[in-house]
Amino acid sequence: MAELPKNDVADLALAQQGRTRIEWADRSMPVLRQIRDRFALERPFEGAKIAACMHVTTETANLMRALAAGGAELALCASNPLSTQDDTAAALVTEYGIPTFARNGVDRDGYYAHINAALDGAPHYVFDDGCDLVNTLHTTRTELLAGIRGGCEETTTGVIRLRQMTKDGALRFPMVAVNDTDTKHMFDNRYGTGQSTLDAIFRATNTLLAGKTVVVAGYGYCGRGVSSRAKGMGANVVVTEIDPTKALDAAMDGFRVLPMIEAAAIGDVFITVTGNRDVLRREHFEAMKDGAIFANSGHFDIEIDIVALSDLAVSGPRRVRHQTDEYVLADGRRLLLLAEGRLVNLGAAEGHPAAVMDMSFADQALTAEWLTKNWQSLTPGVHDVPTEIDKEVARLKLATMGLAIDVLTPAQEAYLNSWEHGS
Ligand SMILES: NC(=O)c1ccc[n+]([C@@H]2O[C@H](COP(=O)([O-])OP(=O)(O)OC[C@H]3O[C@@H](n4cnc5c(N)ncnc54)[C@H](O)[C@@H]3O)[C@@H](O)[C@H]2O)c1
Repeated sequence: MAELPKNDVADLALAQQGRTRIEWADRSMPVLRQIRDRFALERPFEGAKIAACMHVTTETANLMRALAAGGAELALCASNPLSTQDDTAAALVTEYGIPTFARNGVDRDGYYAHINAALDGAPHYVFDDGCDLVNTLHTTRTELLAGIRGGCEETTTGVIRLRQMTKDGALRFPMVAVNDTDTKHMFDNRYGTGQSTLDAIFRATNTLLAGKTVVVAGYGYCGRGVSSRAKGMGANVVVTEIDPTKALDAAMDGFRVLPMIEAAAIGDVFITVTGNRDVLRREHFEAMKDGAIFANSGHFDIEIDIVALSDLAVSGPRRVRHQTDEYVLADGRRLLLLAEGRLVNLGAAEGHPAAVMDMSFADQALTAEWLTKNWQSLTPGVHDVPTEIDKEVARLKLATMGLAIDVLTPAQEAYLNSWEHGS
């Protein structure tokens, strides 16, 4: 039997089950599959080492397969302690020969040990989801910085952290903001988070949304997706915001807009998707109804102040269902926190449907290929994905959906490129 690549996964015996699920996801990822087939012929990553810190899910496994087909030497670790699918991690090691460092439920030390293990191979390129790997490189693994050519960031929170690093003059290599492509955030953040967040709440609690009041904190791309899907299931949706334009947008989309302190008293289900901290805190818990459920779908587990919740509660956390912890207040009210306040859609469900990750990871794969050709001309800092890649992914996705669009006539093209023609 061939020697297994380096790894730290929970149970290699789960590999066959993982492979079956990875192949199932692959069926809904036709764009990434086409890219994988081309990469296998052209081998754009020959000689390149890539370290990726991403949610270890079936969809990510298919991204890793595409990069491996292109000749990359890979190492994968998890970008969240609760999102790892242990069967996927096992399959990556034994079925696809990809070094993987991820176990569901690791503690903080284990999480960073895995990031360090993925970095031990001295990568040329990095893929990050939330900026923890890039942060580790700049704080405790600085000896590796000189060898890094560039990388890609997957999510809003990671891009915000990278922009801060750039502002402080700290970022030492180019990072491409894959999150900011239209084909990523308009679909993954909106339709992906919209569907998978509610999926997770149902799996955890089996609650009925119809007729309930759902409070969504944050009306960005994720918040819009969550709000419209909750409305579609018959919930009365209340939006909280700190940005006046986003709040107006929510109001004109037909949602009630309230400050959280007022929403806290009427909500049945609370969902945070802000990328900010302490969005639900002590004063809000104190106002909530018995049985209130709260879930976070923003990147880090700081949107719900769990320390304040623990301080306020007289008992709990007590696990009452899958990823559902009950906290009891002094007057007997029971508050229910899902997935320990971490990304609920990955902790209590399977993350986004593969069909939407098809686009996000096609963006990642094509951007990584572009980086291998262009890294030398990029300065340290945050860079946009070239528009051609964004449009190409949209074109490929439309084609796989059997959809065609119109083409500009020469007269239309000339008109759009002129200024002389008025009323
Ligand atoms: N669950 C997932 O799988 C998933 C997928 C994509 C993105 N994300 C994460 O979700 C978060 C939101 O992403 P996005 O793309 O929607 O970002 P966004 O910037 O488009 O939206 C965030 C919104 O939250 C608002 N906000 C900030 N602080 C607030 C507060 N205290 N109260 C109410 N609203 C507040 C902002 O004004 C903004 O409108 C990020 O952390 C991102 O990384 C998660």
